Amino acid sequence: MADTLTITDNRTGKQYDLPIKDGFIKATDLKQIKTETDDAGLATYDPAFMNTASCRSRITFIDGDKGILEYRGYPIEQLAEHSTFLETAYLIIFGELPTQAQLVEWTNQITFHTMLHENIKKLMEGFQYDAHPMGVFLSTVGACSAFYPDAKNIFDEQSRRKQTQRLIAKVPTIAAYAYRHSIGRPYNNPDNDLSFTGNFLNMLFRMTELKYKANPVLERALEVLFILHADHEQNCSTSAMRGIGSSHVDPYSAMAGAAAALYGPLHGGANEAVLRMLTEIGSVDNIPGFIKRVKMGEGRLMGFGHRVYKSYDPRAKIIKQTADAVFEVTGKNPLLDIALELERIALQDEYFVTRKLYPNVDFYSGLIYQAMGFPVAMFPVLFAIPRTAGWIAQWEEMLLDPEQKIARPKQVYIGSARRDYVSRDQRG
Ligand code: ACO
Repeated sequence: MADTLTITDNRTGKQYDLPIKDGFIKATDLKQIKTETDDAGLATYDPAFMNTASCRSRITFIDGDKGILEYRGYPIEQLAEHSTFLETAYLIIFGELPTQAQLVEWTNQITFHTMLHENIKKLMEGFQYDAHPMGVFLSTVGACSAFYPDAKNIFDEQSRRKQTQRLIAKVPTIAAYAYRHSIGRPYNNPDNDLSFTGNFLNMLFRMTELKYKANPVLERALEVLFILHADHEQNCSTSAMRGIGSSHVDPYSAMAGAAAALYGPLHGGANEAVLRMLTEIGSVDNIPGFIKRVKMGEGRLMGFGHRVYKSYDPRAKIIKQTADAVFEVTGKNPLLDIALELERIALQDEYFVTRKLYPNVDFYSGLIYQAMGFPVAMFPVLFAIPRTAGWIAQWEEMLLDPEQKIARPKQVYIGSARRDYVSRDQRG
């Protein structure tokens, strides 16, 4: 017998059999449950989408209780150990690991698109020196919509491929220019001889040397961090990408919105918030007092907790190992001791244990980025660069999914009943 859910409506005494597919019922199947033939039918109320799937997806699998994360079926641990960011981006976008020839072609395509139009640079020069790099980043990504009008041909596969290459290739350049602008240094052009992350480090940190060579441990660490951040199914920014994209706007406009969602401290801004929190705590001695304040509801332990993971975030485990490798090169981040002690105390505290609050990917990533020389304000930008791969893959999946339409949630109206306009001189 097919899986069904039988619902009895006590208001009418009628019974309904709703099909269950992949563990879900279709919300629109509830519409048939009515008390009057002309009422709108039953619907669900689900603020913040706590228990509602908005799409069927083949990209990323997460089992939050078991701490599993897979891209296209490949465990994140294996990708972090063996893959590169560009190979993982290819996997996420095209669904399969590339052959050697495909990877060479893909790498060439990305390398070919790393330069920015001179007018984009001029636009970026217009920002104040103290503009937050994430604000500059998301504005510039949005502005690309005006530079590449061909991007609006979203149902043309060739055009989508072109915008995909442009976006993956240009986001590090935009990020690096935003950073150099904020510290008043001249922009560094991309160096096509370098790897994706090696070139990014070159654009950020090259001074007068003719050729920049990143430390291979740091170059690989960044590669691993980029792999870990490349996609994470239907999170806030990805839902924004799909939601905005569902209006059939071009991908640059949609991605500006996704990047804006990522900017928030509850999402991509969390590792920045972690560093500020650790700095504020200042010393291991102040941790018990800080934990007490969090438990009293005066602020959150940033970098802890996740909507999906109710056990250790698998990315946080990998990041901890990466941190060890990085600190061997850079020296230990002085905030590490506070972070380790904070984690130790929180993991045995009843408040955090009962709420299943574990360190998430952002608890340690900020410490690594800071040790590598990135200023705190760059952290959300460092998240947006790899997440571009996920956003594009999810956007394209949404566009090609015949079940999708423009995103338009329902609401439960709880405002005033109909009333007549009162002229200004008669209002109380
Ligand atoms: N510190 C203290 N208490 C917390 C924390 C935290 N970091 N996170 C959740 N809680 C508590 C809540 O107060 C709530 O307690 P209550 O039941 O007594 O009211 C309970 O745990 C459940 O929390 P919710 O806010 O309902 O959980 P939700 O799934 O909505 O939030 C979120 C998830 C936003 C990540 C939250 O855990 C949080 O704010 N964490 C800190 C910010 C952070 O690290 N964000 C990065 C997420 S990872 C990413 O975006 C890449």
